[in-house]
Amino acid sequence: MIDETKGADPQMSSEAPGSLWGARFESAMAPEMVELNQSLPVDSCLWREDIRGSEAWAQALGRAGVLTQSELASVIDGLQGVALRIETEGFDQAQEEDIHSVVERMLLEEVGSLGGKLHTGRSRNDQSATGVRLFGMSACDQVQDHLLGLCRALHELARRGLHLPMPGYTHLQQAQPIRAAQWALSHVFAFLRDIERIEVARGAAAVLPLGSGAIAGCPFPIDRKALKDELGFERISSNSVDAVADRDWICDLLYAGAMIGVHMSRLSEDLVLFSSSGFGFVRLSDEFSTGSSLMPQKRNPDVAELARGKSGRLHGNLVTLLTLLKGLPTGYNRDLQEDKEALFDTCTTLDITVPALAGGIRTAEFVPENLEGAIDTQLFATDLADYLVRKGVPFRETHGVVGRLVRLAEGEGIPLSDLSVHAMQNEHEAFDDDVVEVFDWERSTEVRDTIGGTSLRAVQEQLEEVSTQFSAMEASTE
Ligand code: ARG
Repeated sequence: MIDETKGADPQMSSEAPGSLWGARFESAMAPEMVELNQSLPVDSCLWREDIRGSEAWAQALGRAGVLTQSELASVIDGLQGVALRIETEGFDQAQEEDIHSVVERMLLEEVGSLGGKLHTGRSRNDQSATGVRLFGMSACDQVQDHLLGLCRALHELARRGLHLPMPGYTHLQQAQPIRAAQWALSHVFAFLRDIERIEVARGAAAVLPLGSGAIAGCPFPIDRKALKDELGFERISSNSVDAVADRDWICDLLYAGAMIGVHMSRLSEDLVLFSSSGFGFVRLSDEFSTGSSLMPQKRNPDVAELARGKSGRLHGNLVTLLTLLKGLPTGYNRDLQEDKEALFDTCTTLDITVPALAGGIRTAEFVPENLEGAIDTQLFATDLADYLVRKGVPFRETHGVVGRLVRLAEGEGIPLSDLSVHAMQNEHEAFDDDVVEVFDWERSTEVRDTIGGTSLRAVQEQLEEVSTQFSAMEASTE
């Protein structure tokens, strides 16, 4: 691995090969300890961020007079050489404990002992915190793109359901008629809140810890403002002790991820139910369904089941991190190395799951005849009570009247709408022939015309509101 012709001098202890800190130790690390100590299998994916942070740090050292201009140029060249090498050869069975140690060793191999100047005034504590934050900021951008795609797919589905009825459920019992669009939009609004949560997490991630050193700050005149601008951070950490241990932003991101899990899981549960033969409201496309190896007729809603299943780990990752952080004494503690697996797992899970669910929604169709067929006349019981209210009867009284009518219809084994006007008048004299108009889903939805309601106008307003938010989000990422 080591290119002797470049006079590399990794300056590593013979007692602890590949380590950045071996000199004060007499004996090598125990084999059982080596594996526990290693984070390279997890953090190797941060090599780009590590090199980016190192280039910025080299520039800062140049400005502070720690590196001469020609040393700076060599270090930057060397870091680019390291990047090229990792890009083409990977890590070639590197044995180091973490990605920072690998990059430093490779830099020494590229530029010789000059590479040993790069770590001046820097600790892996502020270095690794910086790399993970760089990763986190772009991960947030990507999750937002995925969520926007899912919201767009649901918005399209809502448009396809604008003129279709659906039973609205409470307690999973049929409650009142709604427009199918109103159901699809209800999920859009939940995911729009998730986009805001991700935005908050991104803001919390965008604080530069570099320049905090191991705990006490940096003894060289580093321009942290220039570092911040160079690395695309929004703010600079205010306290070095806090900065090396602050993982709150990861909690924010994992919490946002957990909430996305809740929302994906609830949407999925609806899709599983609604695509089943008992409901049949929605048909998922072949591309997002699977069959059974045994039962030839099966058409399973796997995209929804898997999305529901994946939410378990999204919740678990948040709990992992909160448990990791609770009870740590002030400053950097090695426990913090464990932050990355939970973070990466949430990001990977979202990268895989959100676009698949969006695809499932994009290709799903409502089944109008089943939606219309599911509108049981008991769904109009509230409308019937409201009919009497409009004739001046107090609601509490009308509620009782209609309750008795429902019982009567059930006893006779007929739909509520089949009760004769005469039978209704036996319960209250204010019933009249026009009561038949109540049993119509379009009328029932049209009268619910308040903001956020399910009338055509109110639903169109929601569609419009969502479109406006899409445009605003797109404009802000341009
Ligand atoms: N790999 C560690 C991490 O990811 C950084 C190493 C800090 N090590 C130390 N002994 N302070 O957090």
